[in-house]
Amino acid sequence: MKILITGGAGFIGSHVAKILLDLGHQVIVYDNLSKSSQDNLDKRALFIKGDIKDRELLKKTLLGIDWVIHLASLIEVNESVKKPVLYADNNVLGTVELLEAMREVGVKKIIFSSSACVYGTPKTLPLTEASPLQPDNPYGASKVAVEAFLRTYHILHHFDVTILRYFNPYGPGENHQPETHAIPNFIKAALDKRPIPLYWEGEQIRDFIYIEDLATAHTTCLNLKGFSIFNVGTNNGVKVIDVVNKLSDIFGYDVKIENLGERAGDVNANYASSALLKSKAGWEAKVSLDEGLKKTVEYFKSKSS
Ligand SMILES: NC(=O)c1ccc[n+]([C@@H]2O[C@H](COP(=O)([O-])OP(=O)(O)OC[C@H]3O[C@@H](n4cnc5c(N)ncnc54)[C@H](O)[C@@H]3O)[C@@H](O)[C@H]2O)c1
Repeated sequence: MKILITGGAGFIGSHVAKILLDLGHQVIVYDNLSKSSQDNLDKRALFIKGDIKDRELLKKTLLGIDWVIHLASLIEVNESVKKPVLYADNNVLGTVELLEAMREVGVKKIIFSSSACVYGTPKTLPLTEASPLQPDNPYGASKVAVEAFLRTYHILHHFDVTILRYFNPYGPGENHQPETHAIPNFIKAALDKRPIPLYWEGEQIRDFIYIEDLATAHTTCLNLKGFSIFNVGTNNGVKVIDVVNKLSDIFGYDVKIENLGERAGDVNANYASSALLKSKAGWEAKVSLDEGLKKTVEYFKSKSS
């Protein structure tokens, strides 16, 4: 199939592109490179530099496309609190431009990368797809708004829509600018022999999903029809301090910790039930946290040497 990946030059998109190319699909990456560079791109993919708000360029690019995997988005929670209009503009209006371009060209199949942020602070765990949507920051609100537009395009224009709500992806190639995610920051600190910066003494619970498992979820969902929403996680909540302890084991010394206290806006605990994705599409996470962390440490070691 011929698949367009918006945001395909980023951390997750570059892994999704690789896995699709390995399966023999044709991949077109569409990205404005505002948060990434062409370094991440697989040479087998065709690259178009463009913004999702550029409907005319999108329409040209969409000709002959079978599926769109839509990952282009701004992703920083704290930035979204300071710049909600930017997040509404880029993530929500940008997506509506994309959907209009798809409708006009007649491409009506889309997989969208949503986030556990749509749930905000959960009252019960694990989170299922039926858990209430209560985003507590504009980034999460932008994902809820896009999900609503996608449902509308399914009802009005018969789009086939799959929404994947990712939990906490990690793995080789993670290089956000700035990096706000725990695992790459922990590993970089440990490699530099700096103390690991830790909020809440590491007592928060998260669901860390290895990037290759997450990328595989997209290929599993490629042929789904209708409208579906799936959590993509491991069914396991892990304390952040346990990740730190596993890194100590991998590095072979007791990594130092810098306790940064409490941080406003952090969710105390979240983890997914991904039972629905398993029952409907046969997907489940395969890579253990120990194995995933080892591979991720190897990647960052190779980058620093
Ligand atoms: N990384 C995570 O922890 C996480 C968790 C849940 C959901 N997600 C979602 O997964 C997707 C990918 O995240 P990522 O970690 O790979 O982020 P990333 O920043 O590495 O990738 C996003 C890509 O989108 C591009 N982009 C942004 N706005 C654009 C626009 N207007 N037009 C064209 N390209 C644009 C950026 O240049 C970047 O290459 C995002 O939708 C994000 O919200 C990520």
